[in-house]
Amino acid sequence: MHPAFARSPWFGGDYNPEQWPEAVWDEDVDLMRRAGVNLVTVGVFAWSLLEPEEGRYEFGWLDSILDLLHENGIAVDLATATASPPPWFSRAYPESLPVTADGVRLSPGSRQAYCPSSPQYRASAGKLARAIAERYGKHPAVVLWHVNNEYGCHVARCYCDESAAAFRRWLEQKYGTIGALNEAWGTAFWSQSYGRFDEILPPRTTPAIGNPTQALDFERFSSDELLACYLEEKAILREVTPDIPVTTNFMGLFRGADYWRWAPHVDVIADDLYPDPADPDAPRAAAMARDLMRSLGGGRPWILMEQATSAVNTRPANAPKAAGQMRALSYQALARGADGILFFQWRQSASGAEKFHSGMVPHAGTGTRVWREVEQLGSELAALGGVMGTETRSNAVLVFDWDSWWAIEQRGLPATSSYLSLVARWHAALTDAGLTVDLVPGDDDLTGYPIVVVPSLFVTTDAQAAAIDAAARSGSSVLVTDQTGIVDENLRARLGGYLGELQSTLGVWIEEFWPLTGAWARPGGIPVAESATIAPTVSVRGGVFAGGTSTGAEWTEALHLHDAEVEAVFEGGALDGWPALTRKARGEGAAWYLATRLDRDGRAALVERLIAESGVRVERPLSGDTGGPVESVRRGDLLFLINHGASPVVVEVDGTDVLSGASARGITLGQHDVAVVAVSVVGERSPATAPIVGASAQNA
Ligand code: GAL
Repeated sequence: MHPAFARSPWFGGDYNPEQWPEAVWDEDVDLMRRAGVNLVTVGVFAWSLLEPEEGRYEFGWLDSILDLLHENGIAVDLATATASPPPWFSRAYPESLPVTADGVRLSPGSRQAYCPSSPQYRASAGKLARAIAERYGKHPAVVLWHVNNEYGCHVARCYCDESAAAFRRWLEQKYGTIGALNEAWGTAFWSQSYGRFDEILPPRTTPAIGNPTQALDFERFSSDELLACYLEEKAILREVTPDIPVTTNFMGLFRGADYWRWAPHVDVIADDLYPDPADPDAPRAAAMARDLMRSLGGGRPWILMEQATSAVNTRPANAPKAAGQMRALSYQALARGADGILFFQWRQSASGAEKFHSGMVPHAGTGTRVWREVEQLGSELAALGGVMGTETRSNAVLVFDWDSWWAIEQRGLPATSSYLSLVARWHAALTDAGLTVDLVPGDDDLTGYPIVVVPSLFVTTDAQAAAIDAAARSGSSVLVTDQTGIVDENLRARLGGYLGELQSTLGVWIEEFWPLTGAWARPGGIPVAESATIAPTVSVRGGVFAGGTSTGAEWTEALHLHDAEVEAVFEGGALDGWPALTRKARGEGAAWYLATRLDRDGRAALVERLIAESGVRVERPLSGDTGGPVESVRRGDLLFLINHGASPVVVEVDGTDVLSGASARGITLGQHDVAVVAVSVVGERSPATAPIVGASAQNA
């Protein structure tokens, strides 16, 4: 099943009938039909019921459920049920329980209580996956395998002895000799040279900062180890059912697993995302996660496997989604390439740890706002078959890299940073300007995108530097921001003025970092005098910015020129008069470097400049004070317009809103309103001199 084979977008959710008496099941399928549900995920947490004791399987209830669903025309994404080992398993194999960096062994009694390297876990999970595949592989309801659940969600890293042994095997395979490992890890520092692989441990809690490259390798190993769990189950499923596609649900912008390494092994990319309804910026971050999912599949359609109809129960206070908010976020996913909109979960649980997490059928039943919105969305999606399999059109690309994420958040750096916020700010600046953004790991081909942004690529490999350079030479406007090219893939500093090979692309080099966070005001600092606190922001002066100035925060760098032009300078502060923003004409394109973190207006102004210089065509047929993020995304022949902001916006396009049937010229979108317009766009802001590239361009 490629998702495009369905006639209309997949619609449904996790269905956990084992939590309910059989009497409820008939009502479930009746309501599913009413709501237009065509796909449910079954069995995710059913291990203890399917295998109540080791090797004894009880499939009767699952047989009945799959038959019932099939009789009602509802397809099944069937789980391998390996996400939560049952109590008998933890009792029989206590050494399979995960251990924290501090040496605490975690208890069973919730879920995911297993070490990914545990041979007992792998063996038992494999047996269960095989039993399920053999029993249901030919069941006509089953269209997709759902392996495990959210790998690494609770236990992304395990530090037990089994993990230590697996880590050593992984290192031996990577480095071959202990000498090569010592060289890569820089173990001459602090007397860490290893004589043999079996001296090596996971980066457990140490007296002082541990070896950074050891820590980075452990991140890579841990992601690979979770992936190995997935691949073992997938191999079994493939062997038994070669034709049924296999997925596992990702978690958006999840730090624990390098999804670039996973994506080639996942037949249908699937994502779980729970934007906070109370956070006005959440739709921006969600847009980035959706763009990542599309990009992971090289532009292929993906499935939103889980979201909430309303509140979750995981935050200190859990706001419900306001009227229309669930629908707006669903359309955001659809616009950005999803061919399915599913929820956790179908019926809100009455017991257990998540009973206050919303469902499609709420505790209060069907006479509710949530249920009405579910029915409305279901009927709208049923009429949107035309969107299936079509491509979201992008015109900018952002480099997003797990090595940099892991490395820039280690200890012992010039300042602490949140990689996600550094990248998300630029994603938001691009999308707020009306661009649609692909994400790439950076060593792929970046050419063909009018605009390329490389935010804080702390770890820059030679291949990434070459790809960035090639993009500029071939005509892209490339923007590289602070803390890029500081270290190589072994975290060894790039000597001779940071940026490494990118110095020739950008025409600059960096002498020194000058973070702005007030060092003495920090915990542990000694506030001797007011004057010891460093100003947290600095003025940046340049013609790019409205009124000629902007503000930088958190970070500045002492930047020297080779052969770039200065576009803006720092004004005041320690680096008064030094370059803050530079540009170098490179081949057919341009390479910009930004040595600070601009505020939102500054980023917007710089993006406008990139848009103008690249000539990229921007579709943004909206007017009015948007007062927040308003999205316009082109997918196939449809333009999706979503107002997440508080103020109404007016759509200025010729065409018809396929949802309301109204003429789109003059449609007013209130908060959380959506229009899906089949149009030729008239509201363009800049000349169409550069092509809009397809979302799959990076894999072309
Ligand atoms: C996901 C998980 C679901 C459910 C949901 C609640 O992380 O896959 O099983 O727990 O969160 O938001």
